[in-house]
Formats: sequence, C-alpha cells, structure tokens
Amino acid sequence: METIHTIGWMQQIARNARVKERVLGLVPTMGALHEGHLSLVREALRRCSPVVVSLFVNPKQFGPSEDFKKYPRTLEADRAALEQLGVDYLFAPSADEMYPKDFRTAVTVEGLGDRLEGRSRPGHFRGVTTVVLKLFEIVQPCFAFFGRKDAQQVRIIRQMASDLNLDADVVICPIVRETDGLALSSRNAYLKDGERQAATALYRSLDAAGRAIQSGERDPVRILAALRRVVDSDPRVALDYAEIVDAESFEPSMALRRPSYMLIAARVGGTRLIDNALIEPDGDGVRVLL
Ligand code: PAJ
Repeated sequence: METIHTIGWMQQIARNARVKERVLGLVPTMGALHEGHLSLVREALRRCSPVVVSLFVNPKQFGPSEDFKKYPRTLEADRAALEQLGVDYLFAPSADEMYPKDFRTAVTVEGLGDRLEGRSRPGHFRGVTTVVLKLFEIVQPCFAFFGRKDAQQVRIIRQMASDLNLDADVVICPIVRETDGLALSSRNAYLKDGERQAATALYRSLDAAGRAIQSGERDPVRILAALRRVVDSDPRVALDYAEIVDAESFEPSMALRRPSYMLIAARVGGTRLIDNALIEPDGDGVRVLL
C-alpha cells in the first residue's frame, strides 16, 4: 500500500488509473478505523481495483465547541489495518494541503441538511459536502462507499452527486454493530465504563420501536413513544432527537408507506451518538433493518 500526502500525486495516480480504464473505488474516512469502516473497505475491494481510502479529520465539519481537537487519531494502526486488507492507496493529506490559506469555497445542499443532524450541528453538512466534493474531484472514483450509519450524510452526498453531475456511484453499506447492538463509531472510544453499557440504549430503543412496527403499529407518534420509553428509562442517556422521516425528503413520515428512516441522536455523558433503522414496505408488511 502506498501512502499519499499530496493532492498533486493523488491526482496523478487517479489519472493513470482512469486512462487504464480501471474501476477506482474511494472510501472517505476520518480515521480511527473500526470494523464499520473496514466493512466499507471490504465492499470496495470486492467491486473495485484500485481502492483508495482517504483519511482526513476534516476541520470544517466540526463546530467550534465540538471534538475536533480530541478526535481520535491512530494513523499507524489505521495504516496497518488497511495494508492487511490489501488496500492500494491511503490518501492522508494535511489540513494545509486540503485548505490552503486562501481557500474560499463551500458547498451547500439546500434543505436536506437543515433538520436533525444539521439543526443540532450547524455548518456540519456544509463541511462534509465541501470535503467530499474535493475528494471526488481529486480521486475521480467510479464508486464511493458510505455507511448507512450516517443516513442523512449519505442522502445529502447523493443529492450533491446528482445535482452536480458527479460521475461517482454512491454505494450505501449496512451498519456494523457490536454484539450488544451498539453501532460502531470512532466516538465510542470516549465512553467511560458505565457509559458504554448505557450507550446500547440507542440500539435498544430502535429495536423496541421496530418491534412495535412489526406488531402492526403504523402511527409514528406511538412508535416513537415506544422508543422514548427505553431512552427515558436510563438517566445517563439524554435524547437530542428521535424522528421517523421519509428516506428521500428527510421530512417527517406520516405513514410508513414509503421507505423511511427512524433516526436517533443522544448524549451519553459527554459523548454524542447517532443511530438509525431503515423501514421498508415489504409486500403487505414492513421490514425494519437495524
Ligand atoms: P467517519 O465518521 O470516519 O466515517 C467514514 C465512513 O464510515 C462513513 O461513510 C460512515 O457512515 C461509515 N461508518 C461509520 N461507522 C459505521 C458503522 N458502524 N457501520 C457502517 N459504516 C460506518 O463520515 C465521515 O467519517 C466523514 O463525514 C466523511 C464522509 C469522511 C467526510 O469527512
């Protein structure tokens, strides 16, 4: 595996791959890699060659009071894990390389990013779309791989790719969870002993709501009440939002007749976590994917 630090060299390699008509895959990450990230990498390796994994803790997507400074950075371990999987290139630019002093452009997808995560984290999605567009331009991938764990993020990236006629196919991969249901996240590293157990409340609440749906409940208010009962039973968990939204518009879903996401964000101690379930009409019934 070759590690690349400059945009110029990354562009050169990507250009060569394109000329040779190779199917280039990109997996954008902020590092501190876990099995969730690695599942995207494995999917990329199944479909593409060469595979580029980008590792960049993007300052523009962190709010002023957020965890940019303390975000886990584990470059050597990340490099070893990617090397072992057979990744071709690790693209790890510096902040100055990505955002030189005179950098002035931002990319905003209107509407979709105003609610939910966007409301709790103003400017976050603008930072995400700005860096992802830069990565797409630098690497020019045929396929780019994202996790459904960040459902609103991937919806917004798909919109950007469609609106700006980007050539990359955006592939969505399932959520990887610990055996007790907790969705893998780099931020789980912040959880202290008791908090780690409490953090399973996000999964357990989605699961409880999912069971209400499976037993025939279709009223979002009642479904979310089932979710809240689980969250409220643990004083260490503070709910930020819980909503059922249409998978396309990300506006509240009134009935479950179209694909929807049930989304939750909560704070466990000082750590903010998100999770979701995909709800899909399936014949006469409804399927809930955690
Ligand atoms: P990061 O949080 O490092 O996540 C990188 C990718 O891994 C994202 O597509 C995310 O959805 C996916 N991922 C994280 N946890 C997962 C899990 N448990 N199961 C499956 N996939 C998971 O998301 C970002 O970085 C950044 O916003 C980025 C897109 C790189 C732009 O800076």
